[in-house]
Amino acid sequence: MNPINIASPQFKANPYPIYAQLRAESPVHRIMLPSKQPAWLVTRYDDVVAVLKDERLVKDRTNAMTSEQLGKQPWVPGFMKPLARNMLDLDAPDHTRLRALVHKAFTPRLIEHMRERIERLTNELMDTAERKGSIDLVRDYALPIPTTIIAEMLGIPAEDHHKFNRWSNMMVNTASAIDMVRLIPAMYRFIAYLRGCINQRRADPQDDLISALLQARENDDRLSEDELLGMVVLLLVAGHETTVNLIASGSLALLENPDQMAKLRGDPTLIKSALEELLRYTTPVQNATERYASQDITLQGVTIPRGELVFAVLASANRDENQFENPDVMDITRENNRHLAFSNGIHYCLGSPLARMEGQIAIQNLLRRMPNLHLATARDSLRWRGGLVVRALEKLPVAV
Ligand code: HEM
Repeated sequence: MNPINIASPQFKANPYPIYAQLRAESPVHRIMLPSKQPAWLVTRYDDVVAVLKDERLVKDRTNAMTSEQLGKQPWVPGFMKPLARNMLDLDAPDHTRLRALVHKAFTPRLIEHMRERIERLTNELMDTAERKGSIDLVRDYALPIPTTIIAEMLGIPAEDHHKFNRWSNMMVNTASAIDMVRLIPAMYRFIAYLRGCINQRRADPQDDLISALLQARENDDRLSEDELLGMVVLLLVAGHETTVNLIASGSLALLENPDQMAKLRGDPTLIKSALEELLRYTTPVQNATERYASQDITLQGVTIPRGELVFAVLASANRDENQFENPDVMDITRENNRHLAFSNGIHYCLGSPLARMEGQIAIQNLLRRMPNLHLATARDSLRWRGGLVVRALEKLPVAV
C-alpha cells in the first residue's frame, strides 16, 4: 500500500476507500505520522471494540512507555501540566475517580435544562440566516450552537464568550510544534482566566457546571483545583470540536442524499434514528484518541510493540461490511445501528446525551425552517481541515 497520511486534508476528503482496503488487506497497519512517530491503525469493527476495551492499551503514557521512550516525549510547560491530568488521558483508577466525580455534576437534569435554550439559539441563528439568504453553515450555524451551549453551561459570562472562543479555537487548532510554541502565551492567559472563574464560583456559587463540579463529592473525595481545570478544558474542547462536525457533515450528507432529506422532512419523528445514522455515516471523531501498548500486543497476527501508539479507527469500524448492511449507503431508518461514533469501553463519550440533543434540534430546525436549503458552491470545491482525530469541513456555503 502507498504511505497514508491520515492527518492531511486530501486524505480527509474521502478516507473511506482506503479504510475499506485496510480492512481487507491490512487490518492492523503501521503508518508514520507527520511528526515521524509510528502509529498503528486498527480498522475492523470487532478489533476496534476489542482495542477500546483492552486494559493493556492505556491512555497515560507513563503507564506504557519505558523511561527511554518517555525521555523522547515533547516538552510541556509546567503551567500546562494540569491539562494532561484530564480523564480522557488517564487510566483506572485515576480515570474512574474523575469520571465518578464529573457524573455528579454533568447530570441529565442539567442537560435537559438546555433543551429550550438550544431551540431558541438555533431559531435565532436561522433568523439571521434567512435575512442574509446565504451563509457558511459551519461558522454561522454548526459552530455557534455547541460553543455557546458549553460556555453557558459552564457559567462563562456572555461578555467573555468571544475571547473564550478565541482561546479554545487556538488550542484545538494547534497542528505543529511551532503552533505549540506560539500558543504558550495565549494558553497562559486562558488558564489564568479559568482559574479566576473557578475562584469566583468558589466564593459565590451559581447554578452552573463549574459550581457543580466544585461541589461534587464522592465518599469524602473531591476534585482538586488542577483537576477541575483539566476537566473544564476537556469539556470545552469536547464541546467545541465535535458536535460542530456532526451538524455540518450531517447537513452535507443530507444534501447529498436528497431522498433521505425528503424522508426526514416528511416524517420528523425519524429524527432519532436519522441522527444515529448521521453519527455512523459521518463519524465526526474519526479516530479514538491515542492509546499506547503497555506491553507487546498481538492482534490479527501482528505484534504491536510496547510503548507504540494505536488508533482505533472509529470511522472505518462504522463502515465495516461485516457489521453493517450496505455500510456506504446512508439510511436514516437503519435498525440495530450499533455505531461506535461515541467510542466504547470506559472512555465512552460522557457528553453523548448533550451531543444527541444538540444534533437532533439543530438538524430538525434546519430542515423545518429552510425548505429550499442547497449548496451554494460546487461539491468538489469543499475543503476539509487537516488533523489526526476529527473530520471537519472548513466551510459549507449554503443558500437558504
Ligand atoms: C457529536 C459529538 C461528539 C462526538 C462524536 C464525541 C465523541 C467522543 C469520543 C469518540 C470519545 C472517546 C474517545 C476515545 O475513546 O478515545 C469521547 C469522549 C468524551 N467526550 Fe465526547 N463526543 C461528542 C460530544 C461531546 C460533548 C458535547 C461533550 C461535553 C461537553 C463531550 C465530552 C466528552 C468527554 C468528557 C469525554 C471523555 C470521557 C472519558 O474519558 O471517560 N463529548 N467523545
